[in-house]
Amino acid sequence: MATSSWHRVLVLTLIFLLNCQQHSATPSKRIIYRFTDCTAEQLLHLPKLSAVFELSAVTCNITTLPNAYFTRFSALTVLELRESGLATIEDYALSGLDQLQWMSLAGNYITKVKPWAREPLKALNSLDLEGNAIRTLNGESFICYPNLHYLSLAANLLERISSDVFAYVPHLKHLNLAQNRLTVIGSSYFRGMQHLAHLALHHNAIERIEADSFESNAHLRSLRLDGNKLKDLEFLRNRALTRLLNLNLSHNQIETLDVFASSEWAVIDLDVSHNRLEELKGDTLKGLAGVVHLNLSGNALRLLATSCLDKLINLETIDLSANNLTQVPVGLFDAPTQLQRVNLSRNALPDIHATLFAQLPYLRLLDMSHNQLSSGAFIVHFSPLLPRSALTLDLSENHLTRLDTDAMDALHVCSERVELFGNWWHCEWLIVELVRAPAHFHFGRNYSLVASWSRALLNVSGIDCYDVERKRSIVVLDAGRLWEQRHTVNTAEQTTFLDPAMPTPPPLVWPRVRMDRFDSRSIIIWMLIAIGLAFTGLRILRQLIDRREQAKRLTKLREMKTKELVRLTTNQLTVHSDHR
Ligand SMILES: *[C@@H]1O[C@H](CO)[C@@H](O)[C@H](O)[C@H]1NC(C)=O
Ligand SMILES: *[C@@H]1O[C@H](CO)[C@@H](O)[C@H](O)[C@H]1NC(C)=O
Ligand SMILES: *[C@@H]1O[C@H](CO)[C@@H](O)[C@H](O)[C@H]1NC(C)=O
Ligand SMILES: *[C@@H]1O[C@H](CO)[C@@H](O)[C@H](O)[C@H]1NC(C)=O
Ligand SMILES: *[C@@H]1O[C@H](CO)[C@@H](O)[C@H](O)[C@H]1NC(C)=O
Ligand SMILES: *[C@@H]1O[C@H](CO)[C@@H](O)[C@H](O)[C@H]1NC(C)=O
Ligand SMILES: *[C@@H]1O[C@H](CO)[C@@H](O)[C@H](O)[C@H]1NC(C)=O
Repeated sequence: MATSSWHRVLVLTLIFLLNCQQHSATPSKRIIYRFTDCTAEQLLHLPKLSAVFELSAVTCNITTLPNAYFTRFSALTVLELRESGLATIEDYALSGLDQLQWMSLAGNYITKVKPWAREPLKALNSLDLEGNAIRTLNGESFICYPNLHYLSLAANLLERISSDVFAYVPHLKHLNLAQNRLTVIGSSYFRGMQHLAHLALHHNAIERIEADSFESNAHLRSLRLDGNKLKDLEFLRNRALTRLLNLNLSHNQIETLDVFASSEWAVIDLDVSHNRLEELKGDTLKGLAGVVHLNLSGNALRLLATSCLDKLINLETIDLSANNLTQVPVGLFDAPTQLQRVNLSRNALPDIHATLFAQLPYLRLLDMSHNQLSSGAFIVHFSPLLPRSALTLDLSENHLTRLDTDAMDALHVCSERVELFGNWWHCEWLIVELVRAPAHFHFGRNYSLVASWSRALLNVSGIDCYDVERKRSIVVLDAGRLWEQRHTVNTAEQTTFLDPAMPTPPPLVWPRVRMDRFDSRSIIIWMLIAIGLAFTGLRILRQLIDRREQAKRLTKLREMKTKELVRLTTNQLTVHSDHR
């Protein structure tokens, strides 16, 4: 079984090769072999080893790479041995790979990184050791790979790194140490790595980062520290880090951002979501004039100083969702006038000052869902420079009872999409507005209904509304569709129904709403609306049936045509061959 699949892969690859060679315009032929389910022994019996440019073996059985295994692969440039059970690499297994530039040994059982060659592999610039079982790195780990630019050791078992390991790879630009077990970053870990630009340390268990850890990394541009256990950011006080552009501190235990008040930062993208921030003072973010995307979601923010965003004149996105805000100070968004996306969802805001968003002509997305808003007065005060149909506004799951006529009019003009479901709408107001509302105003949400005339659970789009005595009702939006559902459920036994004879209307028994979704004590039945809608539904259904009939006829016609065509072509073919 294993051998046969091996042959299959081999054959496919050879075909691929022939194609490659035919299309290749370069004089030197590059042979590429890609295998799955092979063995180490089989790889050595490939033809033309010395011309192989790329070798890839995925999910093979290569537990051991013996010494001098690659000596005949003298032109090998790309090597991938992934998920192949590789556990032992003998000391000189990689000797002879002078041309090797890119190597991946990801997803194996390697426990130690060693030189694995007699002479340095000077051409190697990318090494991927992700998903192995590497516990430690020592001084000699990288001495044979002096020109690495990219190194990934993600998803291993590293707990600590002995000092100056990376001093042997001075040209490294990308280093990925994510998903390991690091708890402390020592000051010597990254010493001397002057070219390091991207460092990923996310999803470790880092609690502490020594003060001068990044002293010599003046070219660091992106730093990922999300998913660790950091409590403070004192390590950021190092001057070398002020030129960072992307900083991800999401999912830590950070309580204060004071460090950003002390100097000027270049950072563009700052993610501090899911930490323990409670307050932003006037100067907390003072040094972040360059920031474009700021994520403060999932903290415990209660207090925002009016001037806390004053210096952030380049801000385009701010996410303040899932915090504990009960108020947003007037003037908060007066300085960052470039803002395009504002998320204040999932707070506890009972109201919003009417002019809060008045200075934001570029606003395109405003999410105010899951708050306790009872007034939409701010809608009238959106910037007059807002283009038509530009704004997506989410006001769902609030305490709105009605929106004034001028607010509705303003929404008609400026919005592209408006979510309004899950509010406390007054029934009278709602009915009137439903008639006027354009299709991009979404009042309805989906309910599951149990009806006496259908065994299946029905889905229906409806709206909660309340009367003056605060009794809850439901307005069903599309009873016609409801009825359609009933019949699609039954089509198996009722095929004759598709006959375009006028179908009988459903009995007017109001469906029972499932108890977990709805308080049945207070159901007022909007019977008249339902009847009206049901008749509309019938009309639609009638049209639908007509259309289906027509479609059937068309298909039949098409089938006949195809048959005719086939007959004609076969005739012609026979005629043709007769001539020959
Ligand atoms: C892998 O190959 C070795 C011999 O080289 C063999 O003993 C082992 O059973 C093979 N493993 C699998 C999963 O085929
Ligand atoms: C920060 O990391 C989290 C995962 O931990 C990720 O979801 C988020 O997109 C990252 N933020 C940025 C700005 O890349
Ligand atoms: C902010 O972070 C949260 C959680 O990490 C994420 O779900 C959300 O998409 C981010 N917001 C933005 C605007 O990137
Ligand atoms: C706003 O934030 C909430 C909670 O973090 C999230 O579920 C929602 O998708 C965000 N809204 C937008 C428009 O990104
Ligand atoms: C934030 O609000 C949540 C629920 O709304 C509450 O459980 C939590 O205690 C609040 N946190 C603070 C710090 O007020
Ligand atoms: C209701 O369900 C329809 C599809 O059946 C979906 O397109 C729509 O987005 C849903 N509405 C809500 C508010 O979830
Ligand atoms: C009703 O909607 C739920 C999810 O909202 C879906 O799982 C179910 O299949 C739908 N039922 C019908 C009859 O469309």
